[in-house]
Amino acid sequence: MESFYEVGSRVWLLEGEDWVPATVTESKGAEVTFRTEYDKTYSIAKDSLNRQKVTPMHQTSVDGVDDMANLGDLHDAAILHNLHLRYKNDKIYTYIGSILCAVNPYYVVEGLYDASVMNSYREKHIGELPPHIFAIANECYYSMWKKGESQCVLISGESGAGKTESTKFILKYLSDVSRGTGETENMPKVEDAIIQSSPIMEAFGNAKTVYNNNSSRFGKFIHLKFNSKGRMDGGSIQDCILFLANRVVRQNPGERNYHIFYSLLAGASEDQRSEYLVFEQSSRFCPFLAAEAIEESLVQSEYNLYKNAMKVMCLTDEEISDVLQVISGVLQLGNVHFMAAGGAQIAEKSVLENVANLLRVDIYELSDALTQKSMTLRGEEILSPLSVEQALDSRDSMAMNLYACTFKWLINKINQRIKGNDSFSSIGVLDIFGFENFDVSHGTALCT
Ligand SMILES: Nc1ncnc2c1ncn2[C@@H]1O[C@H](COP(=O)(O)OP(=O)(O)OP(=O)(O)O)[C@@H](O)[C@H]1O
Ligand SMILES: [Mg+2]
Repeated sequence: MESFYEVGSRVWLLEGEDWVPATVTESKGAEVTFRTEYDKTYSIAKDSLNRQKVTPMHQTSVDGVDDMANLGDLHDAAILHNLHLRYKNDKIYTYIGSILCAVNPYYVVEGLYDASVMNSYREKHIGELPPHIFAIANECYYSMWKKGESQCVLISGESGAGKTESTKFILKYLSDVSRGTGETENMPKVEDAIIQSSPIMEAFGNAKTVYNNNSSRFGKFIHLKFNSKGRMDGGSIQDCILFLANRVVRQNPGERNYHIFYSLLAGASEDQRSEYLVFEQSSRFCPFLAAEAIEESLVQSEYNLYKNAMKVMCLTDEEISDVLQVISGVLQLGNVHFMAAGGAQIAEKSVLENVANLLRVDIYELSDALTQKSMTLRGEEILSPLSVEQALDSRDSMAMNLYACTFKWLINKINQRIKGNDSFSSIGVLDIFGFENFDVSHGTALCT
């Protein structure tokens, strides 16, 4: 009998079609007993055992490795086992060659992102220190110098994997290195603006989903420009992968609308409530009262955070107020209802009046836009009434488009604030939105 059937030996045991890590717990008489790491026990006749059913575990799998390119066992189970071993010891990062694999801990790993840790990765090659997101950011920065070539980090993973958090750690590291160059003459603090762009983008582009309380519903490519002295002197943000505007008008069970709606509803002061015509009653687009999960204090602090971040972006008070009025206008649009009277008619004029005031448009033109369609026949514009159902669709499309345009306008504003000069080289960071598995897919992720 092979020596690895001795008690205490670590082995891979075939369970169905998968290898699972196991330990030999007994080897007496005609049977060997194995206990898997998932607490299942198998007693198998010795004479039926062979290497197709049980194989010895390589020492690298027993101890765990920093870089999975060095694993002696090459199958999915060995990779998952190694990640799990490390995760149990708060080692959430592991290399696969030059690729970094991060396991989301869903709690703050103490000290993992401290300034001292950040400093320790400066000018170190990948592999000199334990795997870390800072090592990747550092490698990008120094490769840009050594090779004189622009660099790019691609962050991928399912929804809730930790892509956006990883992006923020990379930005944090790069802005810290940039500040460390001491290159400050007359430079606007572009690093601050780039860091502060995250809360704004998250307020308008992130929402609670079943997978992630802060799920990005758009993909972004952040392009950071560096001057010849190594200082970050500009950048740009592209919302490169479709923005999912349909969430503005309907959400799946257990999900929420974009954060900014709740912040406005819970965070606005009395004065701001009357300025933005925010009322207690919920909007159909944002079932506020039904969302017991909202912690008001948190939403209030978010509201202030978003407003401050908009100020760092050099948005004037008037512009901030305009944005919030449009957001409130979108909310109130959700309360516009129609009745059938020879075509769709606005049911409650006062609701439409609020929307028109917030959007600063003429109420009659707004009413026509919602309840009529126009066609041009032989150069002549002809208006015909919509049915109630069509008017509801038209209202929803208007809300989605208004929101998507506001989002684009904000990104343009951010880009104006952070744009720099023609620079030496750049680093791009791509943070996409993670796909989710639904029982029923409405195809919105593909068609929006
Ligand atoms: N390194 C980390 N340390 C601690 N918590 C983390 C870390 N990374 C992610 N998290 C937690 O997981 C949550 C989800 O992470 P994140 O929003 O980055 O996921 P995502 O991959 O961007 O998802 P989506 O595709 O839905 O946008 C965060 O809000 C945070 O609570
Ligand atoms: Mg994200």
